[in-house]
Amino acid sequence: MPVVFEKCAEDGTSFFLLNTPNSSYIISVLENGIVSHSGWSRRIEKWSGNSAIWKTDRGVNLPPDLDPRNLSLDTVPQEYSTAGKSDFRPGAIELALNDGTHTLDLRYFSHDIIEEKPQLEGLPATYSVNSGEVETVALKLKDTKYDIFVTLFYAVWAERDVICRWVKIENKTDGKIKIEKVMSACIDFAGSDYKMLQMSGSWGRERKVYMRDLVPGTQSIESRRGSSSHHHNPFVALLSEDASEDSGEVFGFNFVYSGNFEARIDVDYMESARFSMGINPYNFSWNLEAGASFTAPEVVMVYSKDGLGAMSRTFHDLYRERLCRGEWKDKPRPIVINNWEATYFDFDEKKLCVLADAAKDAGVEMFVLDDGWFGNRFDDRRALGDWVVNTQKLKGGLSYIVSEMKKRGLGFGLWVEPEMVSPESELFKAHPDWCIHIPGREMYLARTQLMLDLSRKEVTDYLFETLSGVFASADISYIKWDFNRYMTDAYSEGLETEQQQEVAYRYVLGLYSLLERLTAKFPHILFESCASGGGRFDPGILYYMPQIWTSDNTDALSRISIQAGTTLVYPPSAMSCHVSAVPNHQTGRITPLAQRAFTAMAGTYGYELDMTKLTKEEIAQIAEYSNLYKKIRYIVQSGDLYRLVSPWEKSDKVEKYAAWMNVSKDKSFAVVTVSWVYAEALAPKIVLKLKGLDGNADYKDLKSGKIYSAKELMYYGLLLANLWPGNASEQILLVRV
Ligand code: DGJ
Repeated sequence: MPVVFEKCAEDGTSFFLLNTPNSSYIISVLENGIVSHSGWSRRIEKWSGNSAIWKTDRGVNLPPDLDPRNLSLDTVPQEYSTAGKSDFRPGAIELALNDGTHTLDLRYFSHDIIEEKPQLEGLPATYSVNSGEVETVALKLKDTKYDIFVTLFYAVWAERDVICRWVKIENKTDGKIKIEKVMSACIDFAGSDYKMLQMSGSWGRERKVYMRDLVPGTQSIESRRGSSSHHHNPFVALLSEDASEDSGEVFGFNFVYSGNFEARIDVDYMESARFSMGINPYNFSWNLEAGASFTAPEVVMVYSKDGLGAMSRTFHDLYRERLCRGEWKDKPRPIVINNWEATYFDFDEKKLCVLADAAKDAGVEMFVLDDGWFGNRFDDRRALGDWVVNTQKLKGGLSYIVSEMKKRGLGFGLWVEPEMVSPESELFKAHPDWCIHIPGREMYLARTQLMLDLSRKEVTDYLFETLSGVFASADISYIKWDFNRYMTDAYSEGLETEQQQEVAYRYVLGLYSLLERLTAKFPHILFESCASGGGRFDPGILYYMPQIWTSDNTDALSRISIQAGTTLVYPPSAMSCHVSAVPNHQTGRITPLAQRAFTAMAGTYGYELDMTKLTKEEIAQIAEYSNLYKKIRYIVQSGDLYRLVSPWEKSDKVEKYAAWMNVSKDKSFAVVTVSWVYAEALAPKIVLKLKGLDGNADYKDLKSGKIYSAKELMYYGLLLANLWPGNASEQILLVRV
């Protein structure tokens, strides 16, 4: 079993050894009940306990029951560090206690080993299905003075290199306490010889990969925007200094939460690195009444001894198999046409039907009607909240347009942005207090809109009823759920003054409860999340909606970088990618159709352009790409991804090309894609070393008919020449013979 609990023969300390197939995570319980982190490394099988604690002669402010010159909380690696005692580093938890103090002294109280993964009430999380696949340690700590209990959970996966951590705080005192900071995971690494990897960017430039060496002090990323944000993904990895795509140790951390977060690494004077991740303490506190408990969201921790590629594949499998849920979890995702870049707000039934005619000829399976179908929505300045059909544009209502799509053999999808309200709307007139705002302060608008106060039950109830009505009003099989502004003035008219720092967190809980109810009521609907593109691309969202619009930037070259970063953590099945028009609407760049199509085939595929403007030949060409995607989508959506050449690897040189491959789980089929990023005259040849093939087999290139041994393809490589000028991009299909 993955969890071992033993007494250490030498010094009487006890320890937990948490074993995944390739890693061991060790927690020591010292004699006085201090819970110390003893390491996370490649699997060690046995633990001697000999380096459980570090002794140093410079310790100060020592707990009196420990050897006073040698041992300090400041140098003992902590499993969950507190504030106020002799650990001066930033702690994992801060509570404002009834006596006006902030000091907490947590010691071992008890533990349980649970034969499954318990669910986190009201929160998204990975889940276990089969018995034996997960064992969970619930390690309960208690304050030395007060009846305050903190339980640290570790769900250890038997067949995956994954440990999931979360935390529960119980107030068993007879007074109220205030949680001011609660990190979901905290690890004291023995040294600091690591590189920190993060994914940062902005609207249209999401999830660019950055790496830096650790230095003394704090290095951190965060969101204060009310959602996980375009700017920093809630993901951090620590890499050994020699780590690369296919070798070296990598520790990956991803927060299963869609709101304000913080991930930080503090390097101390002993040059040890403390990693922590959790709800951003900025503008957060939680009133914990006597007898109440609080559970903080989960952090997924992945270990890889074989570099970033193996880390990504572990995340991908876990998220596809044990985070995503519902009917669409494993189903092939349909090829969509979305009318946004084709028409923006300017459409009517006739225009949509003509577009659908072209889309049908181009092999599309689902028509998605984007923004502008409701209320007085002729531009983006009004009508959010008024979820009734605009009959000037859609005379026959939703049922008519759906029936027209059905006639053409297309499914129908609809765009909504339920979390928002426009000041110019019927909803705002009826309930001006339902938006997030501070009474008496000027409201700041973004895209002329405000956020609804999802911390209030009456608001989420109203949205549930209204959206249920829309979703049931016609045969809708796909919903694009958008979210286009950040939170300011975090205040709710539904909460007391002392609860106002709970608003941002309660908002996310309200969103989760609404999504839970809607996805349960409409299990046949494929939900796609969107937030001005990829502004809320996180595992919390994936629990409810199995795919996410990756970015509003649909330019093929921009997408190569955005998508490569996204795949560090998120599976291709989660990544919605469309072919759009040229010149591209966001960058003005012209790229060949093949490059746009092959780039979009890296995820769930679709189109976002006015196909009525294309020639018959172009439609026929697009139909070929659609047919191709239909053949390979099971490999892309459920197979293994291998990045061959990634944009971030070449950041110091000119980035010339990118390449990746998708291999079916049984290794019988592989799709190799290579794409020039930088045009050159007489482009140099590429010898591309493939990965992930069955080493004992031969593979046939379906286009040329040539047969290669897998070893030749992986160790010598595949020669590609003359990609530019022309298509700039090539896709090679290999089948095992
Ligand atoms: C932002 C989204 O990212 C776009 O795809 C589109 O749906 C617009 N909103 C519509 O307003």
